[in-house]
Amino acid sequence: MTSPGAPLPSLLITAGPTHEPIDAVRYIANRSSGRLGIALSDEATRRGLSVRLLLGPTPLTPAHSPTTLERFRTTTDLQRLLATHLPQATILIMAAAVADYRPVADAAALVGKRRREAPGLTLTLEATPDLLAQAASTRRPGQFLVGFALEPRSDLLTSGRAKLDRKGIDMIVANPLETMDSDTIEATVMTRDGLVHSTAGAVHKRAFAPWLLDIILAAAAHADH
Ligand code: CTP
Repeated sequence: MTSPGAPLPSLLITAGPTHEPIDAVRYIANRSSGRLGIALSDEATRRGLSVRLLLGPTPLTPAHSPTTLERFRTTTDLQRLLATHLPQATILIMAAAVADYRPVADAAALVGKRRREAPGLTLTLEATPDLLAQAASTRRPGQFLVGFALEPRSDLLTSGRAKLDRKGIDMIVANPLETMDSDTIEATVMTRDGLVHSTAGAVHKRAFAPWLLDIILAAAAHADH
């Protein structure tokens, strides 16, 4: 889908959940499997594109080795990796399910295990930085940023569009909540200039990846010119 003679895009793909530590052995996480981001990495790799996959804590692994694979655990790890690698990428596909809140860092707790001494425990959580919005604010011209939005089905289009605008990105892939940790996906893709594509109902994530990658590559190539 790239124009003949144009340099091939270089993809930075994030996938999987984050684990936010409570102490040395416990964490707060979400149900993301990383399946979709991994499927996109596999598809782009099969097409001969340069892919750097930043993969969170998930037992799933790519079927095709991307150009580079790096692992992250926390939002902070991913934030550092993005700061290092985003400048070299042409397209960022932010499929990672980044935590919205994390326990306030407690250096002493992080090296040990909290004991079961009290009858209850209250954790103080703080909001994580919005990595995608940060990426959008530091992007260089020509970079194309894709985000995902997990939304209640009744609110898919309105919330997806609002998230696209709020984060200052180029494209958003809006999915109903049931998509998380599922083999199938039902998606509506919206671009900044108002283009909307929808899957015909729920499709397998393996079949969805080539469909979505075609849309991303076409829109990114168009945005370049
Ligand atoms: N995201 C991010 N940094 C965060 C949270 C989310 O970069 N701290 C990214 C996700 O990778 C995804 C997009 O933002 O591509 C949307 O994530 P989502 O959880 O749906 O949206 P939020 O911004 O967290 O908003 P809300 O939870 O209010 O729906």
